[in-house]
Amino acid sequence: MTVHFIGAGPGAPDLITLRARDLIASCPVCLYAGSLVPQAILSHCPPDARIVNTAPLDLDAIISECARAHDAGQDVARLHSGDLSVWSAMGEQLMRLEALGIPISVTPGVPAFAAAAAALETELTLPGIAQSVVLTRTSGRASAMPEGETLANFAATGATLAIHLSIHRLVDVVDDLTPFYGADCPVAVVFRATWPDQKVLRGTLESISSEMDESVNRTALILVGPALTRETDVRSALYSADYDRRYRPQTADSPFSSMEED
Ligand SMILES: C[S@@+](CC[C@H](N)C(=O)[O-])C[C@H]1O[C@@H](n2cnc3c(N)ncnc32)[C@H](O)[C@@H]1O
Repeated sequence: MTVHFIGAGPGAPDLITLRARDLIASCPVCLYAGSLVPQAILSHCPPDARIVNTAPLDLDAIISECARAHDAGQDVARLHSGDLSVWSAMGEQLMRLEALGIPISVTPGVPAFAAAAAALETELTLPGIAQSVVLTRTSGRASAMPEGETLANFAATGATLAIHLSIHRLVDVVDDLTPFYGADCPVAVVFRATWPDQKVLRGTLESISSEMDESVNRTALILVGPALTRETDVRSALYSADYDRRYRPQTADSPFSSMEED
């Protein structure tokens, strides 16, 4: 018996991995985080599966469900939105399951920041402009930010910021970031990326608050940074015609000419 932690993706039911689909189909028990995991994904469960929405449960109750399935020798599909590596609360469950000697596996999913970038049809890195993406958030009721992990500190690097769990604090985010990026820095807010009611708002640090409407209230990501510009003609060297590389040596003298393909 195993508890399979599965990244259920950002919302669209077809944005899960084949491994995730097959694991869900093989598990007689499915525990899903109902606030963000789409119901349509549950259609992969076997017809007689025990399906439990864990949104109203506390950690003890979730672990009891796993222990009960363990006693019955039943595998569990444990679904969390997006990927499990960020803000999934998988860690605290793993510790408890390990203490009970219950085996686990982890299957990654499509994270919200990748879905938001896809909705914007953009890369979050641009040569010479931003080569790092910071996945971060602002303090919430349940989780204060560690000292040092401030928006100002991240902004000082000029990286692209993907700010989660913070749409209700957009005004503070703008105030914190404007001194570093400037009022004309591009910003995008992607609400419910890949869901049928997805919305994309674009603007600058100066204008984004006025672009907002009341429907954009919870599941949204704020992306900020100069790499989001739609104007700069910046290309990576990798595909430029004269870039000497292993797969496209430019001259007979190129150090790459004599190399074997691998
Ligand atoms: C608890 S975190 C979960 C993150 C998730 N584990 C991931 O891999 O993206 C929830 C936050 O992720 C962002 N988020 C999750 N799904 C989203 C979506 N479909 N569109 C936009 N933002 C999303 C929002 O900022 C939301 O407040």
